[in-house]
Amino acid sequence: MQNSLYSLAEHTRDHLRKTEFSSIVDYELAQSFANDLDWALTATLPEQMLIERPVRGLYNAPLVLGKSVPDELSELYGAARNAFGQVRWTEYYEEDAWSESFISSFACGEGIGPDGRLHQGEMILGLFLLGPNTYYPEHAHPAEEYYIALTGNPEFKLGNNQFELKNDGAVILHHSNISHAIRSSTEPFYAIYGWRGQVDAGTWYRDNMMEEAEFKKYPRINKR
Ligand SMILES: [Fe+2]
Repeated sequence: MQNSLYSLAEHTRDHLRKTEFSSIVDYELAQSFANDLDWALTATLPEQMLIERPVRGLYNAPLVLGKSVPDELSELYGAARNAFGQVRWTEYYEEDAWSESFISSFACGEGIGPDGRLHQGEMILGLFLLGPNTYYPEHAHPAEEYYIALTGNPEFKLGNNQFELKNDGAVILHHSNISHAIRSSTEPFYAIYGWRGQVDAGTWYRDNMMEEAEFKKYPRINKR
């Protein structure tokens, strides 16, 4: 059971290390994530069995598991496919007025982490699946985050910037408490993701993310 998650950790680490970044702070954050994964690979992480939940967004799984990907991504993509059944899938958020537009197309699978199949309290390694034509609205969290886009050519919005198209293999880094949003294309978006830092601290949003006088709102997390 454990091998596929360790193999995912190994290939994810290697992908983070070989990716070039345009700024030193991004480079350093990616190296920190790679070092976390290196550490996890030397540890014997305890398995945990938690309650399984229905996850509506997994109806897109057949569409993302049989894609052909560029040669340089094939090992990482294969590792993610082998780990697909080992991560613990949830809808992550409770359904409410904020999440109702995307939650039935939203699937988050924690492999290593506080609520993953392999327990680790200070980092997360998982898989992520967002249905086609879906908007995951602007939000932020204290934990630092990466996505590695595997398929689907989504667009990411960072802070005040415009949406930017991300090709297969792209590494998207989110520093602590930086606003970000995802818009999928006509295809589902499938990715590897990771967190480090305050992995238990909640996601927040504001109606206007840039309006610092506005109180933060905390959607209910439902992944335990
Ligand atoms: Fe995020």
